Amino acid sequence: MKTFYIETFGCQMNAHDSEKVVGTLLREGYEQVIDEADAGLILYNTCSIRDKAEQKVFHRLNEYKRMQGEGKKFAVLGCVAQQEGEKIFEKAPYVSMVAGSASYRNLPDMLARLEAGETRITGLDDRQTDETFDTEFTARTNPHRGYITIIEGCDKFCSYCVVPYTRGKERSRTSASVLAEAQRIAQSGFTEIQLLGQNVNSYVDPSSKRSFAELLAAVGEVNGIKRVRFTTSHPRQFTKDIVDAIDAMPALCDHIHLPVQSGSTSVLKAMQREYTREWYLERIAWTKAAKRDISLTSDIIVGFPGETDKDFEETMTLLADVKYDAIFGFKYSPRPNTPAIHMVDSIPEQVKIERLAILNARQRELQREHYGRHLGQTMEVMVEGHNNSRGQVTGRSTQNKTVNFTCDTLPPVGSYIDVRITQIFPSSLVGEAISAASAPSPALLAQQALNARVPATA
Ligand code: SAH
Ligand code: SF4
Ligand code: F3S
Repeated sequence: MKTFYIETFGCQMNAHDSEKVVGTLLREGYEQVIDEADAGLILYNTCSIRDKAEQKVFHRLNEYKRMQGEGKKFAVLGCVAQQEGEKIFEKAPYVSMVAGSASYRNLPDMLARLEAGETRITGLDDRQTDETFDTEFTARTNPHRGYITIIEGCDKFCSYCVVPYTRGKERSRTSASVLAEAQRIAQSGFTEIQLLGQNVNSYVDPSSKRSFAELLAAVGEVNGIKRVRFTTSHPRQFTKDIVDAIDAMPALCDHIHLPVQSGSTSVLKAMQREYTREWYLERIAWTKAAKRDISLTSDIIVGFPGETDKDFEETMTLLADVKYDAIFGFKYSPRPNTPAIHMVDSIPEQVKIERLAILNARQRELQREHYGRHLGQTMEVMVEGHNNSRGQVTGRSTQNKTVNFTCDTLPPVGSYIDVRITQIFPSSLVGEAISAASAPSPALLAQQALNARVPATA
């Protein structure tokens, strides 16, 4: 029996890549196990985005080393695999395969070579490839959400970021293949779809030239789909027709993740983000003018080389101007191959820590205020899990907000229920169910049962 264990780090695209890798392995006759000790093949899908990621990967590989005597094989996938390449074989000679995400379409071939005993298999496509990794055999391990990668890679080259080097050039799938996948997801009983891309709104159909907003609308029309999410949007290609599509189409969720990175135009310039604070705020104004209450979230980097107190203050005022419902704040970390690695990492660690703490504290305060608008509202919540110890149910609103609520009987994961909001916390809402839960389709329940034996990757 061929068995594998997979461990996944990084963004949703990486998590979803793992779903596709798992599906490919199952298709090739492997069985997934939840204990690495039982696995013949251990796959490690890595992330390189910040914090000396490669050191952590080598540390983990050292832990694998202890297991090598048991006849196991090891494969390193993902962004650190692409970044470090064959250096991984030098530092961890017991690894047999090193493959970046742009090579996964060749996995069946690479697996055959692994089984034939090859020990130096590489899938290290550079930025040249136009191909994407599409498979009908994706293992849908998330119990309520079906992911679809619509565009891979990145051509933006922000000065701090490894992604353009680890994921290859930007390439979109045809909308016909995206829509066929959306239909398959709907037929499996999912009612929620999330479209993925490093820059999801740079999407353009390579044959019909259909735009991202047009694709969004088409996915929103797929029979059975009630919620369409998408991430991550880049401000450069953020066009007003995306807001218009959300306004016009109930299935498109009221949420846009539009990372700003900094509120200071001079820092944005050094980051090579190719927009100014004003340009960004204009896009925000479009979403504020929408008929629907569109929730906005963002990523922010503090302590970029040269960021002055005044620059940081501009990020703080931007928080108040935009009124985000959540932010993900990060301390700048220098990354290999990026232009910013040649800049002096001038902001001391202690200042980065302080700025991040100030940023998060301010955002918490603001969120407490913004969330106030939901008190007393009734919202439709999709059930995502149960907290049995407190008898509470947890789910999400269309705006992607976590809603914890009480309910007489536990509604199934994937069902929808109306909840009246009775309490506000800085990053969640609390309420009580005021309707019966919808029944998830038998297809979704069957899918969930199938996946109950293996851990979800996202
Ligand atoms: N494509 C997305 C971001 C993908 S990476 C976009 O452009 O918005 C996710 C987040 O990690 C980024 O938004 C950024 O805030 C953060 N990040 C990326 N590189 C970083 C680095 N070198 N140091 C700190 N944070 C970083
Ligand atoms: Fe990285 Fe910038 Fe590309 Fe986002 S747009 S993945 S931050 S290079
Ligand atoms: Fe990490 Fe690669 Fe995603 S670096 S954040 S796994 S694109």
